[in-house]
Amino acid sequence: MTAIVVENLVKDYPTRKGPVRALSGVSFQVEPGEIVGLLGANGAGKTTIIKILCGLVRATAGKAEIFGIPADRPEVAKHVAALLEGSRNVYWRLSVEENLRFFAGLQGVGLREAKRRAAELIHFFGLGEKRRVTANLLSQGMKQKLALACALVKGTPVLLLDEPTLGLDVEASHELRGFIRELALRERKTVLLSSHDMGVVEDTCRRVIILARGRVVADDLVSNLLSLFRTRAYRVALRNGLPAEVLAELTPKFPSFRWLPEERALHVELWPSQNFYELVDALRAAGAEIEGLSRSEPDLEEVFLRLVRSEKEAP
Ligand SMILES: Nc1ncnc2c1ncn2[C@@H]1O[C@H](COP(=O)(O)OP(=O)(O)O)[C@@H](O)[C@H]1O
Ligand SMILES: [Mg+2]
Repeated sequence: MTAIVVENLVKDYPTRKGPVRALSGVSFQVEPGEIVGLLGANGAGKTTIIKILCGLVRATAGKAEIFGIPADRPEVAKHVAALLEGSRNVYWRLSVEENLRFFAGLQGVGLREAKRRAAELIHFFGLGEKRRVTANLLSQGMKQKLALACALVKGTPVLLLDEPTLGLDVEASHELRGFIRELALRERKTVLLSSHDMGVVEDTCRRVIILARGRVVADDLVSNLLSLFRTRAYRVALRNGLPAEVLAELTPKFPSFRWLPEERALHVELWPSQNFYELVDALRAAGAEIEGLSRSEPDLEEVFLRLVRSEKEAP
């Protein structure tokens, strides 16, 4: 059975100035064991989707189900746990160990099993030395690990992680990404992870759903999206510069041709259908002497910007 089904989801938040539309007909599905990224700029609707899926917010219209159970029913809590933005779901005055046992208890896990799970997670996240320390005294990175552990201790098959690396320094963010990847693999969890950070999604997810202003603008494997936009970009340094008439001659063939005078280099992007040797031959025929060459690959950020830009340009 499909783990997450979202269909034509609409959310209007009531405000004094009238309703604010956060989601305008979002649809997607996640299969068990998938780790899917929900990527979008601030305000795109990521948190709203996650809150609807864990029953915190009620949708205005449409369907949101976890293993076939509507997300606004209490039984859904058996199947889904969420890490909400800013690790707000841990208790500051409880120790690491107490937090874990408390959240296991909430889920109806017996004391012995709760202790076992807490010990296992403390070990997994390397929080052993801190297990008696209250949450308020932990570093930001450790707080976030604890918040993730508190979601995991419930033992649900589906995990919703809202901006799990927000506010962490680079090192802590990388460490947490590693834990998320390992967890999804080892425990076959179904993970829906939201982020405005392309790097986080590229690092942890195989599939990504890109949201812009409450709509899905792309839903595909990260690798497919990257190859879709794989314009191979090159920087070609030329020893003797480039005469204007040569530039004029080559521009129609390579529309992204740009001469960078300070660098005495050409910037050019080739689409997959274009052969790199065509470029080299054309330059050689024009009498240009190639001094150096470097290549750059697109990343998810570039894909995201292109998609969102083309969405804006659409009527
Ligand atoms: N409680 C609320 N009341 C009114 N508007 C809200 C509320 N929560 C979110 N919004 C609006 O809904 C839109 C989507 O917000 P959100 O789901 O938080 O996006 P994201 O998590 O992608 O940043 C934004 O325009 C935001 O201002
Ligand atoms: Mg958010």
